[in-house]
This record gives sequence, structure tokens and C-alpha cells, in this order.
Amino acid sequence: MIGSIDWEAAVNARRSVRNYEMQALEEGKLKQLQDFAESMNVPFPHDVKIRFFKANPDKKLFTVFASPPDGAAFLAGTDIISISKAGFIGELLILYATNLGIATCWYGHYKTDELEQIMPHLGEYAALTQPKWGYGKNEVEGRRAICITPLGYWRNTGVRLIDRIQETFISHKRKPVSALLEDGTDAEKLSPNLNYALDLARKAPSAANSQFWRFGVSPDNQTITIAMPVGYKHMKWEHPDVDIGICACHFWLGLLLKNIMCRVSISQDKGRVVWRFEI
Ligand SMILES: Cc1cc2nc3c(=O)[nH]c(=O)nc-3n(C[C@H](O)[C@H](O)[C@H](O)COP(=O)(O)O)c2cc1C
Repeated sequence: MIGSIDWEAAVNARRSVRNYEMQALEEGKLKQLQDFAESMNVPFPHDVKIRFFKANPDKKLFTVFASPPDGAAFLAGTDIISISKAGFIGELLILYATNLGIATCWYGHYKTDELEQIMPHLGEYAALTQPKWGYGKNEVEGRRAICITPLGYWRNTGVRLIDRIQETFISHKRKPVSALLEDGTDAEKLSPNLNYALDLARKAPSAANSQFWRFGVSPDNQTITIAMPVGYKHMKWEHPDVDIGICACHFWLGLLLKNIMCRVSISQDKGRVVWRFEI
């Protein structure tokens, strides 16, 4: 799984792209993405499904930019553990796509009726009234599109206002590891390998770049937890546990890149998801 892909370069190169060429992915690249999605090995059982779709070349789906012809949706149950796993699995696909030179953007507030039209996925639930944006605020029955992403090529001729705003206010700037450690853990005292994996983790994307993950490290550096602070609420994004799964994915890749084996467990504690890595 780790194999021929430069995951570290993908973590560093990935950016949310909101300006696309109206050009379909080459068949070969789409096939590579599909094969990767089918054969992906992750360290936990799950019911997440990646579906690829063809979108209309207009602004209906993403509203603030026109969709390129291709996209992918991450479908899962809507309990917080399942959506967090969707974050982990979705990020693996996004990093793999980055490695192929494909631009992406995590998107939670896609237009729900447009997605159902281009990629019917609601089945018996389609008859119910659906939220306008995304799958809704709360847990619901059945599997939903937790987030989607465009898959295409960055159109970099001229910087549009929306890109400039993103760059200035909610850009890729990230907090240092030292600001994310719980219980006064000193970043200087972490092993170099752990520092490396946490550095990849802190670079994860999060809704509005909120970076609400916190890292708990046991004194012997053998157990690491990733979770949001108890009681955390985001003003606009209803599902921050998705982002925690994304961050956990980066951390897991960091350990793998350092040949560190670990046991991964995912649990629900005090209303949020806790990812635990035992080295
Ligand atoms: C779970 C999740 C949902 C997101 N939803 C949206 C969205 O609905 N609209 C949008 O423009 N960007 C969305 N983003 C993109 C973030 O704004 C972006 O990842 C963040 O600002 C960091 O920038 P970067 O991805 O370029 O590093 C989402 C990101 C994540 C992780």
C-alpha cells in the first residue's frame, strides 16, 4: 500500500483547489484511482464506500466554482465513528490523487439534490425531504455522502478573487506540533519518528482550516491519541470528527513511512471520536 507512492510529498503538495480546467481525467488515471479505491488496505474494519461520478460543468454542485467533469464521494453511515473513518479513507484517496497530479478539494457543503441527480445514492431515503447542503446536521439512517471532492486539473490562469480570499484567510497555514500537544507534553522530548508523524498529522486539511485536533502522547511515547477537545463545536461545520479521521490518516502514514507498526483503535468518548495508536 505504501509502496511506490511518495506520501510525504503528497501531504506537502496537496492544496484545496477551487478553480478547474473543464477537462476529464484521462482514462488511465481514473482507472488507477478506481483500482486504488478498491484495493486500499486500512488498519480497521469499515463500511465506507468511494463512488466516482460525472458532474455537470456548472456551479450547481459546489456553488462557488464550476465542477470539473469528474468527482468522488465518500459514503458511510452517519454515526460519528463511521464519518471519522470516511475522513481517513477519503484522505488516502485524495493523497493518492495528488500523487497522480490530480487536484482535489474536500467538500462537505455540496448541493444535496444536485449530487443525488448526478449520482443517485439515497435510495429509499430520496423520498424524504433532504437538507439543502450536505447530508444534514445529525445522525440519520442509512449511508450518506459524508463529503465529496472534485477530481481534475488546476486552472491557474489568473487568480480569481475566491482563490485569493482562501489563500489569505483560510489558507494552508498550520499550527506547530507544540501548540497541539495535550497535558503540557514537551515537543522537544518526543522521539524524532514521533515528531515526524505528528508533523504530517498537523498538516491535514480541516473545514475552514480550523485544525481542532489535539495530540495526547503517553510518557513512554508508545500510545498516541488524536481527538478534538471535549465539547468542541465548529460554527459552520457540523461534522468535525471527519477531519479528525483525516488527521489520523496523516499520522498513520507518518508511522508507516518510518516503518513503525501500530495497533489502531477508534472509539467514542465524551461525544467525540478518539483515535488511539499503540506502537
Ligand atoms: C471535512 C472538510 C470539509 C470541507 N468542506 C469545504 C466546503 O464545504 N467548502 C469549501 O470551500 N472548502 C471545504 N473544505 C476545504 C477547507 O477549507 C481547506 O481544507 C482548508 O482551508 C485548508 O486548506 P488546504 O486544504 O488548501 O490546505 C473542507 C475541508 C475538510 C477537511
